Amino acid sequence: MGVRSLLLPWTLVALLATVCSAESAWHGHTTAGSTKVSRFTPYYVPPGAKSYDSSSPLLHYTGDWSESFSSKYVQKSARVSKTSGAGVSFTYTGTGVEWFGSLGPKRGIAQVYLDGKLAERVDMFNNVSMSQQRIFWSLDLPQGKHTLKIVNTGEKSSESKGTVMDVDALVVTQGPPPPEALTQQNMAVSYSEMPSYPPLLDMSSKFIPEDEWTLIQNGSTGVHAMQLVIISDTHALIVDKVEHNPLTVSGHPAWAALYNLRTHALKPLPMQSNSFCAGGTFLSNGTLVNVGGNPVVEDHTAAADFGDVDGLQAIRIFEPCEAANVDDCWIYENHSRIRMASPRWYNTVLRISDGSAMIIGGSLKGGWINNQTTNNPTIEYFPPKNIAGSDGLPVHLPFLVDTLFSNLFPIAFSLPDGTVFMAANRDAMIYDWKTNTERRLPRIPNGVRVTYPMTGTGLLLPLSPENDYTPEILLCGGSTIDDTKPGYEISSQDPASSQCSRIVLTDAGIAAGWQVEQMPQARTMPDAVLLPTGDVLIVNGAGSGISGYGNVVDQVGASNADNPVLTPVLYDPNGPVGQRFSSAGMPSSDIPRLYHSVATLTPNGDIMIAGSNPNLDRSEVKYGTEYRVEWLGPSYLKKERPQILGGVPKLLGFGKAAQLKIRLPSTTAQGASIKVALMDLGYVTHAVHANSRLVYLEHSLSSDSSMLTITAPPNGNIYPPGPGFIYVVVDGVPSTGARLLIGDGQSPPVDQQALENMLEQTSVDQYEKSKGKSGEDDSE
Ligand SMILES: *[C@@H]1O[C@H](CO)[C@@H](O)[C@H](O)[C@H]1NC(C)=O
Ligand SMILES: *[C@@H]1O[C@H](CO)[C@@H](O)[C@H](O)[C@H]1NC(C)=O
Ligand SMILES: *[C@@H]1O[C@H](CO)[C@@H](O)[C@H](O)[C@H]1NC(C)=O
Ligand SMILES: *[C@@H]1O[C@H](CO)[C@@H](O)[C@H](O)[C@H]1NC(C)=O
Ligand SMILES: *[C@@H]1O[C@H](CO)[C@@H](O)[C@H](O)[C@H]1NC(C)=O
Repeated sequence: MGVRSLLLPWTLVALLATVCSAESAWHGHTTAGSTKVSRFTPYYVPPGAKSYDSSSPLLHYTGDWSESFSSKYVQKSARVSKTSGAGVSFTYTGTGVEWFGSLGPKRGIAQVYLDGKLAERVDMFNNVSMSQQRIFWSLDLPQGKHTLKIVNTGEKSSESKGTVMDVDALVVTQGPPPPEALTQQNMAVSYSEMPSYPPLLDMSSKFIPEDEWTLIQNGSTGVHAMQLVIISDTHALIVDKVEHNPLTVSGHPAWAALYNLRTHALKPLPMQSNSFCAGGTFLSNGTLVNVGGNPVVEDHTAAADFGDVDGLQAIRIFEPCEAANVDDCWIYENHSRIRMASPRWYNTVLRISDGSAMIIGGSLKGGWINNQTTNNPTIEYFPPKNIAGSDGLPVHLPFLVDTLFSNLFPIAFSLPDGTVFMAANRDAMIYDWKTNTERRLPRIPNGVRVTYPMTGTGLLLPLSPENDYTPEILLCGGSTIDDTKPGYEISSQDPASSQCSRIVLTDAGIAAGWQVEQMPQARTMPDAVLLPTGDVLIVNGAGSGISGYGNVVDQVGASNADNPVLTPVLYDPNGPVGQRFSSAGMPSSDIPRLYHSVATLTPNGDIMIAGSNPNLDRSEVKYGTEYRVEWLGPSYLKKERPQILGGVPKLLGFGKAAQLKIRLPSTTAQGASIKVALMDLGYVTHAVHANSRLVYLEHSLSSDSSMLTITAPPNGNIYPPGPGFIYVVVDGVPSTGARLLIGDGQSPPVDQQALENMLEQTSVDQYEKSKGKSGEDDSE
């Protein structure tokens, strides 16, 4: 695992002279077309990266080394040392370096230094010999010149029979060019050639230093962050697709990991099936489910490489993992017992009022824009339910037929009357799942499409007892590109939408329809993050193009989108119309966050930003696979914050009260505004922030201001039973979040008959079975 450090700013993004064509194949090192299971060799040179062989004159060896020749080595040679003090140093220019070599029973311990500082002590012992292994990696150093030094310590673990180490190859990630070279080019592009992307409104007049936000780059996700969910006070779960990530598990790249929010340490998680592109939710008992995916990666990266299994019907179980020590946290899969009835790729997963998971839509297999053949216009539940006679089988949803083609990853939220809001493409509805009835809402104005691949984002605005939990939906960004067009008629330069639309879901609100506002910058693939203050942070995304990779004209690398939007904007839903957006005090990033980017609020109250990977496999060509993490710190982090000192119960039943011991900031005046935010931080993927929710709680403060009595929401319609975080917000400054489980903590209801019927009537991994036969798409 690499060392973590701050990246020096380089301004905006390089306009590389050559636009590289889309990567058409994987770069696994098994025979093309092979499906035979053989050992994976992690050695991989992403497009745009450079490999230096052990015999390169740029590697300077000191001490005792010998050269070893074998077909198992990269370029058939490696340098080997057995003695203490033998070292190699290598100076490179870029952001990342990886050391490939061998593990085995006679291997010792090496120390790795980066720029003179000890980065890691690595033990190369393994009871089986394996070559072309990634022994060390660091992918998040500031762009520039760095020196890697590897030294044989002459030490070994007790099991090892020797102190051997070798250097087979070093792979350098060049990273983006330095800032100076960029600014001019980029300005030229964004301002003269592209007048349709207005620069941020100049808000400098409003700027108060106290309002300044911070942006820190620290940590690396190890697996690309396609999906992100906070699982505890200390950890996030990151889920990717099967690809050549640097983080390794069981001798092959990992595609899931736990990320320590405090130390930035990673724990790779083995995962059976391909989770590209799954959705997820917590259930009422605190267990997380990760649902859907894609078949086994084909051809060069077939089972022979990674050992993944078909994920299209997968329901992956991640039991509660609340301690800071995550050694015993694993993902469990067993498709013969736990699975969906039908294959789903790009489904949305939502926790509903009884604490179970509603699984919405998706395609029957991976592709791009949905169509009649691939569409899975149904809903199913985990655990399975008997709805309108479905007896555990999928329930047909006309809305998902009518909203073709751009309707994957529907935007959905549980509403405070137990029904579900759903938006797909240009349409929206309220779905009563108990009776299987749809109530269509007015069409989203101005032809704006909001779901994949015309990706916008959506939130349920904060609910509060003061306004009787009146639900209001906010949708932002997306695109007006005609979704009947083939890829070759769509360009990465087609402008995104700057529109935000709001609708109050009462009869009067629906009659009044959508209220439209404009963001200061257009965005496709934005992320919208609710803050405990009730504000909405909008971050990430592109000013032009469309989601996905490898489909349109003018691709940048393989990206279907371009013109990354690098400055976040804050939206105050209660501000005066026309003055709700502000980027005052907002830092700009230098890391493009396009397709497959994520952002979430953390328990600490800052925003974790990760991802971007508009590529089939890990790539270092613009726009490459991004592992660097950024932490956006709202200005409130610098102020004296209220503290929750104790009294947060593990479990809080609906309507039940709890007494929190708190400390208000010393400056708190009489009559200060105190709010208590109960938040679900959501399951984030593809700009869908499923389950993201903020419910303000009724509360009262003791006369000495040391005790705060809070009352849980009245029922599971207001807050579907499951985990949440409590933030106490005083005059706009939140405490850190305290985790608890809302409801009775019980598992969601199980309809045994529906469950058994579903298992009987449907088969496991249907796509893999039907693959190759004609009519494979009629698997529903
Ligand atoms: C190698 O180690 C693994 C786990 O550390 C163990 O399960 C396995 O039995 C060992 N194999 C041999 C040949 O010792
Ligand atoms: C990154 O995080 C680590 C661990 O919390 C910390 O020690 C280090 O100072 C941080 N670096 C920066 C640049 O914030
Ligand atoms: C998977 O489920 C089947 C059917 O219930 C069971 O026989 C098998 O032992 C399970 N496998 C694992 C690894 O849990
Ligand atoms: C539907 O989508 C799939 C997956 O992208 C594609 O292979 C197929 O050709 C499409 N079918 C039609 C009729 O467009
Ligand atoms: C929660 O419920 C799900 C669905 O029944 C089950 O798979 C899981 O094991 C349960 N978790 C706990 C902690 O009881």
